[in-house]
Amino acid sequence: MTAMMTALFGGTTPQWQPREVPVPEPGPGQVLVRAHAVSLNNADVQQLDSSFDPDAGKKTEYLAGYEFAGDIAAIGPGAETARVGDRVMGTTQGAFAQYVLADHRHVMPIPESVGYEEASALPTGLLTEHGALTRARFNSGQSVLITGATSSIGLTGVQMAKALGATLVIATTRSKAKEALLRKAGADTVIVTDGQDLMQTALDATGGEGVDVVLDHVGGQTFANCLPATRTDGHVVNIGRLGGPQSTIDLDALSYRHLHVRGVSFGFSRPEALGQVVAAVVDEVMPAVADGRIRPVIDSIHAFDRAHEAADRMRGHQAHGKIILAVP
Ligand SMILES: NC(=O)c1ccc[n+]([C@@H]2O[C@H](COP(=O)([O-])OP(=O)(O)OC[C@H]3O[C@@H](n4cnc5c(N)ncnc54)[C@H](OP(=O)(O)O)[C@@H]3O)[C@@H](O)[C@H]2O)c1
Repeated sequence: MTAMMTALFGGTTPQWQPREVPVPEPGPGQVLVRAHAVSLNNADVQQLDSSFDPDAGKKTEYLAGYEFAGDIAAIGPGAETARVGDRVMGTTQGAFAQYVLADHRHVMPIPESVGYEEASALPTGLLTEHGALTRARFNSGQSVLITGATSSIGLTGVQMAKALGATLVIATTRSKAKEALLRKAGADTVIVTDGQDLMQTALDATGGEGVDVVLDHVGGQTFANCLPATRTDGHVVNIGRLGGPQSTIDLDALSYRHLHVRGVSFGFSRPEALGQVVAAVVDEVMPAVADGRIRPVIDSIHAFDRAHEAADRMRGHQAHGKIILAVP
């Protein structure tokens, strides 16, 4: 008899729908993971909302979710570096299920000190923030400005920059009430953008030089304001567009400062390239996860059959940290 599992599907109604489907078999290079917890990302809710059109005749169903943590249940040909029973966390398309198929290069071992729920909240933040720091050629001893730093991945970025030896981490929020959250994560300087001038405060904090690296999660005019706050030959990486995808930049700031500007979107990486980002996280960041210097901030944990409540919380933009689903 075919073994069955519960999985969450989007595309046919405004919320994810649980369905009983066969447990998949791992193909070449894949592992099958028995998930214990999965986490939400903004992209999940954007995909859910954009995939459902009540007026469209044809509705396309898809298996939802990107982030998971659990135990390896089976290994496909060519994935023998993994072992059945290993505790892993990772990223894949189709993670909201009791059994998750993933490329073996896209899973990471979970340190013993970390539980499944915390682990499920880590992969996107670890990969994105470390991938961005790597592309910015970040080195220990440098200064980092992180915009939208109270976002789930931004909080991981603050902790990671400190753990990897940043001498100064400047973090931005629009809300004075979230300053304590950023200080707790390790920010040395907090800029409350509803009231403080981002560029001037960052220049003041760096003796007028500007920061070495910017990790920008906000985009819009915040991205433009980061350019004159970056030192000559510094690096600005756009990660998110919480404040919008359009920005009018001052090309003088870009050119006179010889800035390196780039964007990243790890969800659109080739499998091999994403595997390299994962491998670098395992080598360079996992010790800081294991000893607690990097820990996800968890907003809430919801039952798998209450996933609609988790989606609504994400839509409401009220969460402080990651929203998690416990998998039965
Ligand atoms: N490049 C990649 O590979 C990649 C991967 C994952 C996520 N992302 C992107 O990174 C961003 C952060 O993702 P997340 O899931 O961590 O976000 P999140 O947790 O949902 O972020 C929530 C925070 O965003 C801030 N925010 C919301 N709207 C804003 C606005 N209009 N202007 C400035 N700040 C605003 C708020 O901070 P305050 O209230 O404190 O200001 C809020 O605490 C998103 O844009 C996401 O799409 C990119």
